Amino acid sequence: MEDNSERVRIRRRGFINILIGFFGGLFALCSLYPVLSYLWPYKGASSGTGEFSLPLDDVPQNGYKVVNYKEDKVILIRLGNRVIALSAICPHLGCLVKYREEGFIQCPCHDGRFDFSGNVIAGPPPRPLVSYPVRIAQDKIVLGG
Ligand code: FES
Repeated sequence: MEDNSERVRIRRRGFINILIGFFGGLFALCSLYPVLSYLWPYKGASSGTGEFSLPLDDVPQNGYKVVNYKEDKVILIRLGNRVIALSAICPHLGCLVKYREEGFIQCPCHDGRFDFSGNVIAGPPPRPLVSYPVRIAQDKIVLGG
């Protein structure tokens, strides 16, 4: 009888060790991602020739909208009669940037700031936002081309 309870205890200990190893490994993998993202930050997508369009009214005046374009997320900012198209992925650690009515683009993660040409004006981003060709044609915003 005692021999049997000893075996059960050993099996239970083995199971707990496997669980600890599994969750420890999972934690290590999850911890590695931000470190690797910091060492090799997102480079943005290359521009191509594909076009994408959406109705002009989909982007509010003095406002913005983020759309998927190719393999990137693009922030479209409508200011008067012009539209600006920049990658919405911050080149620091990859957070989504936001348009600020104060006159700049802000990354909420570490307060990185960009002008409307995508240039870094403050914070840790190591390079500008990728810029995309954009135009307004027949009440549509045409991205790329
Ligand atoms: S991720 Fe944008 S400033 Fe850090």
